[in-house]
Amino acid sequence: MTERNRKQDPIGLFDSGLGGISVLHEIHKELPSEDLIYFGDSLNNPYGTKDKDTIRDLSDAICRQLADAGCKAIVIACNTATSAAAPYLRARYGIPIIGMEPALKVAVDQHTNRRIAVWATDLTLKEKKFQDLMDKWGRDVPVTRVPCPDLVQLVEQDRLQDLEAVDAALQGYMALSGDPDAVVLGCTHFVFYRQRLQELYPEISFIDGNCGTARHLGEVLAGSLNDAGGKIEYRNSDGNKLGLSRRLYERLEDTQ
Ligand code: DGL
Repeated sequence: MTERNRKQDPIGLFDSGLGGISVLHEIHKELPSEDLIYFGDSLNNPYGTKDKDTIRDLSDAICRQLADAGCKAIVIACNTATSAAAPYLRARYGIPIIGMEPALKVAVDQHTNRRIAVWATDLTLKEKKFQDLMDKWGRDVPVTRVPCPDLVQLVEQDRLQDLEAVDAALQGYMALSGDPDAVVLGCTHFVFYRQRLQELYPEISFIDGNCGTARHLGEVLAGSLNDAGGKIEYRNSDGNKLGLSRRLYERLEDTQ
């Protein structure tokens, strides 16, 4: 394949469902001339309560589809799938595979010696990858780990407008968070709650890894970036979620 063709090839992204649309939005902002293919696995959502082997096999099947579509790189727009499968996927595909992790380092840098809560899925918080992050950045800081499965479901069920349910879930999880100065949004679904969280808790910083992931992708692809694309294609294992996918993206256009 010529250099020119590789540059014009799309970038693939995937998530257990619709959360990675928040990463898609950030990547389109950072690299507006790239063609992007977004695959949401809503039929198999959630991943956060599944076992590691199942998530690894689901992720592998999606990467196969994205590689067959000619993607020049794949972004695992899901902290959970990254924890379960990133090294395995990198060993199987001959293209860059970019993963995600809770932005604990950013939180620690900004809030040395303050209280931090990490909101993520059960699997992300239990996996070795998170333990390694804690050993590296979280040793001297009180860090409270909070699994937040309801925040995944409210996005997948198209219930972000249901403020009563949203506020009840956010307040419930905040009550378990140890009076934090900063909350790391360690699951891509949670970025959809950023604006509401900031309204409810103006004194707390909410930190996610989307910006850092988009920048890192640009660095990894330096030299093979497109200058003539910009299309976004949505795919989903549940065909009924395509309309909601576009609406969630538009919601981010309106709020960020
Ligand atoms: N969006 C995914 C993440 O970033 C997880 C959601 C799920 O449980 O499927 O971890």
